[in-house]
Amino acid sequence: MKLRLALVLAASAVLAAAGVSAQQPIVIKFSHVVAVDTPKGKAAEHFKKLAEERTKGRVKVELFPNSSLFKDGEEMEAVQLGSVQMLAPSLAKFGPLGVREFEVFDLPYIFDDYKELHKVTEGPVGTGLLKKLESKGIVGLAYWDNGFKVMSANKAIRVPADYKGLKMRIQSSKVLGDEMKALGSIPQVMAFSEVYQALQTGVVDGTENPPSNFYTQKMQEVQKYLALTEHGYLGYAVIVNKKFWDGLPADVRTTLEGAMKDTTKYANDIAKKENDDAIEAVRKSGKTEILTLTPEQKAAMKKALVVVHKDNESRVGKETIQAVYKETGFTP
Ligand code: LMR
Repeated sequence: MKLRLALVLAASAVLAAAGVSAQQPIVIKFSHVVAVDTPKGKAAEHFKKLAEERTKGRVKVELFPNSSLFKDGEEMEAVQLGSVQMLAPSLAKFGPLGVREFEVFDLPYIFDDYKELHKVTEGPVGTGLLKKLESKGIVGLAYWDNGFKVMSANKAIRVPADYKGLKMRIQSSKVLGDEMKALGSIPQVMAFSEVYQALQTGVVDGTENPPSNFYTQKMQEVQKYLALTEHGYLGYAVIVNKKFWDGLPADVRTTLEGAMKDTTKYANDIAKKENDDAIEAVRKSGKTEILTLTPEQKAAMKKALVVVHKDNESRVGKETIQAVYKETGFTP
């Protein structure tokens, strides 16, 4: 009897240390900055469903979409401090954390399509990049796709000369800053939650994003032209606070890893269609003209932008860039 009591007490102490009790579920606060109706928003909901079902309620996932808890510039610190447990920041937002190698994903035209991208995200290069986060108190769990970016402004933008002098909102990536400068634009780093208003009030003239982000933030209300440039990729790394993750009961962690694996497949299966649908929705809104570039216009954009690769070798790391080239067959 005494032994049983001792075992129960010992087990409770272990669970309490991991923040688990018989009544209290383990709470994962998952914060992100986009709308629910986006590839990332939908994937986060899918993960919540799988995680809660498969752990039979031992885990509760609380979602905070649309910067409702933390916005860009705050959320990385929040996950490091444990104020939230999980995030899925875009790969362009890891520079300020000191992991500049992630900006390799921002290099213009480095991926022709999702297939090339997946060679990196699902191979050793992608795994190696996620490992670099551990020294920052973060575990990288997965890559989730969004898609290929388009450019928008209130003037028709087809060739590099059209971008001259435009103030363009970018994410906090030096590579993206150089990309805009290569077009003669003036880059302006800004939190995603502030972009709509900045476009509306003319604080910036234009921006870039995959169509799903453009449409779900209603940017068609404040941008007259959307050019289908597909000049670069935007996707996510799903990350968790390392102390929290390592402190989970092993069976719960394994179940969550399975839920994440299946969610990643779901996320990557829906991303392209979500973006194609968003282009059609923007077209149907009748508010923004969709510009399809001719092969010559596309070539002029590419010519102006690939210089960004060489210029960022020392920032992103030549080895990382070469490793990605090897996977994708990109030749500068
Ligand atoms: C942006 O800030 O433009 C996007 O990265 C937002 C997101 O998370 O997709």
